[in-house]
Amino acid sequence: MQAVKADSNRNIARARAHSNIAFIKYWGNRDQQLRLPASSSLSMNLADLYTTTEVEWSASAERDSVSIDGVPATGAVLARVQRHLHALRRRFDINQSARVTSRNNFPMGAGLASSAAAFAALTLAATAALRADVTEKELTSLARLGSGSAARSIPAGYVQWHRGDSHESSFAESIAAPEHWQLVDVIALVSRAHKSVGSTRGHASAASSILQEARIRSAGTRLAALKRALLQRDFATLARITEEESNLMHAVMMTSQPPLFYWEPQSLRIMRAVRRWRLEAGIQVCYTLDAGPNVHCICLSEHAAAVADRLGGLLPGIEILQSKVGGGATVLGRESALG
Ligand code: PMV
Repeated sequence: MQAVKADSNRNIARARAHSNIAFIKYWGNRDQQLRLPASSSLSMNLADLYTTTEVEWSASAERDSVSIDGVPATGAVLARVQRHLHALRRRFDINQSARVTSRNNFPMGAGLASSAAAFAALTLAATAALRADVTEKELTSLARLGSGSAARSIPAGYVQWHRGDSHESSFAESIAAPEHWQLVDVIALVSRAHKSVGSTRGHASAASSILQEARIRSAGTRLAALKRALLQRDFATLARITEEESNLMHAVMMTSQPPLFYWEPQSLRIMRAVRRWRLEAGIQVCYTLDAGPNVHCICLSEHAAAVADRLGGLLPGIEILQSKVGGGATVLGRESALG
C-alpha cells in the first residue's frame, strides 16, 4: 500500500469526467460490496454530459462536506460519497476530511448515468489533490467502488470494463479512441424526474429474475460480437446487439422481485419508431435505455439532425440532449476554487 502525505493544509484539485452510455450493460453484481459485476460491459463516453468536481483534503476540517449543484448533500447521498471517501482514505492511508464541490451539466438521476460521471470525477480529483501516483487502471477500479459504471468514465472513448474476480482485476480500459467512430447519442428526455429505484438497489435484485442467469451466460458472446462490430464500424450489427442488450436488461428488471418498470409509454413509442427509421427509412440509429425512461438514440453523426427532427415530430416539445463521443477523465487544475 502506498502512503501519501497530504503535506499542507490545502490539497485541492479539480477534475472533470463524462457520463457514459453502455451498449453492453452492467446489471447485477457478484459482489455487492466491491461492486464486482456479474458480467463485463462496454460503453462510450459522452463528451457533452459531464461532472466537474473539486476536492480539498484538509487536516483542520472536522468532517466531510459535500455540495452537488450548489446544494449541500445530506442523507443517503452524503453517506454514499462518504463511503467512497473512506475507501480512498484507506487506500492512501490518510485521515483528513474532504470538502467536495460537484457540478453536473445535465439532470441527475434521470437515467443519464450521473453517478458514473460523478464518481469518476470525484475519484480523480481526490487522488490528484493528494498528488497520489495512481495508474489509470487502478483509478478505474477505485471509481468502481463508488458506482460500477464510473469505472468506464475514466478511460477515453469506447471503453470495456472487465468483470474480473477481485478488486484489482475488475477494471476498465479504452478499446478505441473517440476519433475511431463519430457516433452521436441523441437523448430523448422523456422525464427529468429522479428515478424512484436507483441502480444500487436494482443490482441487488437482479438475481431474483429467472432471466438473469440466461442473460449473464450469454453476455460474453454478445460483448465479443459487439466489440467486433464497433472496431469494424459495422453499424447494423452494433444496432441489433445494442437493442437486444437493452431489451434483455429491461426484461430482467421487469421480472425481478420487486419488478422494476423504468419505461414510460413514450419510451416505447420512441423505441418502436427508432426501429422503423432504421429498417424502413435507412437512418443509422438504434436505441438503448439505462435505469430510467429516457431513450438514448445512438446514431452516425451525419444522421443526428434527422434523428432529432424525427423525435421532435413524434413527440412535439420533447426535450433533446445530444452528445458526441467523449475523452477520458481529466484533471483541470489544482489550487483553485469552484464557484
Ligand atoms: O453504476 P450504476 O450502479 O449506476 O449502474 C449502471 C447500470 C446501467 O446504467 C443501467 C447500465 C450500465 O451498464 O451503465
